[in-house]
Amino acid sequence: METLQSVRTRRSAPRLGAPAPDDRELLVLLEAAMGAPDHGRLLPWRLVSLREGERERLGRELAACAGQDPEARRRAAAKTLRAPLLVAIVLSPVDHPKIPRWEQLASAAAVVSTLSLLLHDRGYASIWRTGPAIEDPGVRTLHGLAGGEQLLGWLYVGTAAGAAPPRPRTDPGRYLSALTGLGSRALSEGGR
Ligand SMILES: Cc1cc2nc3c(=O)[nH]c(=O)nc-3n(C[C@H](O)[C@H](O)[C@H](O)COP(=O)(O)O)c2cc1C
Repeated sequence: METLQSVRTRRSAPRLGAPAPDDRELLVLLEAAMGAPDHGRLLPWRLVSLREGERERLGRELAACAGQDPEARRRAAAKTLRAPLLVAIVLSPVDHPKIPRWEQLASAAAVVSTLSLLLHDRGYASIWRTGPAIEDPGVRTLHGLAGGEQLLGWLYVGTAAGAAPPRPRTDPGRYLSALTGLGSRALSEGGR
């Protein structure tokens, strides 16, 4: 697929079925995604794949976070079954004199974003999901998080049932301005 077309047509897919890429294909795509911009080449992140019953283990942790109501617990547990593959995204920040944590977070997000584009290009689909459970001690333990690490959510991966509707177009000129002598000037007609 041509890159512009691939980027334009990627959409998050809330419902995903099989197939998902196997580990071998995932590694090929990840190797390419790792080329995303990363100040200092710190690679301050890691991913954890959850398939099959591992998704159910996470579901049980999400249920435990959902309180006492049985229906809320059932719904929480079912969430992890919405895709055949979940890829947990972990920020593993590095202490660096020149590269602050926010830049490392930006690098991690760039990798995930690039990976989602590559998945789309291969005919798969994905959605990045987060939620309060990312802070939960049981969820953190399940993923083997160390003290300084932060769970950023999960990329749900699989195959979408049908083509996603096109994204509504937004005028990019409202989000790009040119610097002038006294400030900046939006490049769209009306400005922001
Ligand atoms: C950091 C991040 C977290 C997200 N968390 C959720 C989430 O918890 N639930 C959800 O439905 N979508 C989540 N999304 C997906 C966005 O809702 C989705 O990207 C947005 O609606 C735009 O849709 P599109 O990706 O199809 O263009 C998340 C996206 C990002 C980048």
